[in-house]
Amino acid sequence: MAPNVDPYNRKITYLRLSVTDRCNLRCIYCMPVKDLTLLDHADILTYEEILKLIRVATGVGIKKVRLTGGEPLIRRDFVHLVESVCRIARIEDVSITTNGVLLKEMARPLFEAGVHRINVSLDTLNPLKYTKITRRERFDAVWEGLRVAEAVGFSPIKVNVVVIKGINDDELLKFADLSVRKPYHIRFIEYMPIGQDSHWTPEKYISSDEIKAELETFGPLHKIPHAIHDGPAERYRFESAKGEIGFISALSHHFCPSCNRLRLTADGKLRPCLFADDEVDIKSPLRKGCSEGDLKGLFEEAIARKPRRHRAEILRKGGCLRPMSTIGG
Ligand code: 5AD
Ligand code: SF4
Repeated sequence: MAPNVDPYNRKITYLRLSVTDRCNLRCIYCMPVKDLTLLDHADILTYEEILKLIRVATGVGIKKVRLTGGEPLIRRDFVHLVESVCRIARIEDVSITTNGVLLKEMARPLFEAGVHRINVSLDTLNPLKYTKITRRERFDAVWEGLRVAEAVGFSPIKVNVVVIKGINDDELLKFADLSVRKPYHIRFIEYMPIGQDSHWTPEKYISSDEIKAELETFGPLHKIPHAIHDGPAERYRFESAKGEIGFISALSHHFCPSCNRLRLTADGKLRPCLFADDEVDIKSPLRKGCSEGDLKGLFEEAIARKPRRHRAEILRKGGCLRPMSTIGG
């Protein structure tokens, strides 16, 4: 078996890497306001370590990297990291997931560093509600950041919207309209039970099918065929829209059979599945100076430990324990 093919015959080519657990927002579904436990700085992988691990990962077939957080743009010298990742031979695609707060200043340097695809988290188009969801007054900064990202040439610009009943489910048609006017790919993400202080309850959850039904009151949605870089999103477009609509249905439609990813947490743990707390520690062996061959073996082990699918019982147990901010989604 090729080193990047898991026991269920899925080819693992995509590494999602959290560069920090810190964030300049405090989204209600992601970070608690008090008793927030942060990683020790010494436990966070250095850029040198990250680059070494990505290079090793290319040896097991990783071709695509996404840099996430926490909020990746707040880590010092992030643009340098991006530049170095973009230069790694055999990495064909580099992208970033950001909350967009610093995008206005950083879109251009990031673009010039070599990354041209970006995902921006924005759950509401209402500035007051934005402050409620993120506990920070930064709506205007993000909105301006999106504009600058567009002007600089990022394409596609994906806007991640976590839909929570009673919070932002009244704005679906506004987002539909945004996808018509702007070249943004609006991606509705099902609210997932993740993190120790998860506020998730079944009452707050809305399935993609319900979201789609509501969007169809705006106009017919035309399906866009699946392309290689799509990942788990189902893509649609409204008539003569500049942008798109996507659905990421982590809970209602199991996309596990097509999962191609591995995650590396900010503190150097390889995570075979977002929803399971099984992890392979790669930082300790790395710091003990083990060989590249051994590190490669740890990637292979994480791939071999990918579960066939995540289990529905996580819903009753309250999801996985590790906060989203250290995994990066
Ligand atoms: N459910 C769904 N999406 C989440 N995100 C963070 N926490 C959750 C959750 N509990 C999203 C963020 C970001 C992406 C990385 O994950 O909004 O867009
Ligand atoms: Fe920060 Fe993203 Fe978590 Fe919001 S969801 S607190 S932006 S890491």
